[in-house]
Amino acid sequence: MKKHLFEDRRDYIRQTFAHEPKSQQAIRAAMASPEDQINVPSEDGRLLQLLVRLVGAKKIVEIGTLGGYSSLWMAQAMPKGGQIYTCEYEDRRAKIADKHFKKYAKGKKITIVQGNAHETLPKLSKKGPFDLIFIDADKISYAKYLDWAEKNLRRGGLIVGDNTFLFDAIWQEHPVDRVRQEALFAMRDFNRRLSNPKKYQSMLLNTGQGMTVAMKL
Ligand SMILES: C[S@@+](CC[C@H](N)C(=O)[O-])C[C@H]1O[C@@H](n2cnc3c(N)ncnc32)[C@H](O)[C@@H]1O
Repeated sequence: MKKHLFEDRRDYIRQTFAHEPKSQQAIRAAMASPEDQINVPSEDGRLLQLLVRLVGAKKIVEIGTLGGYSSLWMAQAMPKGGQIYTCEYEDRRAKIADKHFKKYAKGKKITIVQGNAHETLPKLSKKGPFDLIFIDADKISYAKYLDWAEKNLRRGGLIVGDNTFLFDAIWQEHPVDRVRQEALFAMRDFNRRLSNPKKYQSMLLNTGQGMTVAMKL
């Protein structure tokens, strides 16, 4: 049988470009139950870092903190004086994130905005405009989050949406059972709006779950 150096393409990418720092390993260890294992993979963490650096993102909003895994990747790439506001409505998850930010993100400004993002985002508007808005929460709300993001992003800033293949439902006529119709409509609307070349320079990246990246023109 033919021998391979790596398990597959993803394994090669991870081992070459996306080694996980101890801090991120600690967060994953604290979020070991299956319902908590919904963080971005390490290669997407590295991609987020690249995006943060490309636009010199100093003011970031993340919708969907979980245990703080993706926040930490972004924080580690932020320029001095950078600030992340990360939204989470589950207290238990927010507490885990807070504990790890205190330990591993000293000197970085990360504010956990606790509560339902639909209520907390309008209050965050006064801190904007933002350089990067990362959307990674309930899929059904992506179009609504985009309404907010479009108003609160600076020109040249990035809207980044994760899971934009919607578990591969996005391109199928009869999507898999776990995906609700409303989520499918919301995600198609999200990608359709961000694909408008008059408003954005954008692409849906072929990552494991699909990541839409759009720069506001
Ligand atoms: C996919 S996880 C986020 C993963 C995280 N970005 C990472 O990669 O480490 C989605 C998170 O969004 C939170 N969430 C979902 N809907 C929300 C809402 N309306 N307001 C605030 N948080 C929400 C969930 O509790 C969950 O922790």
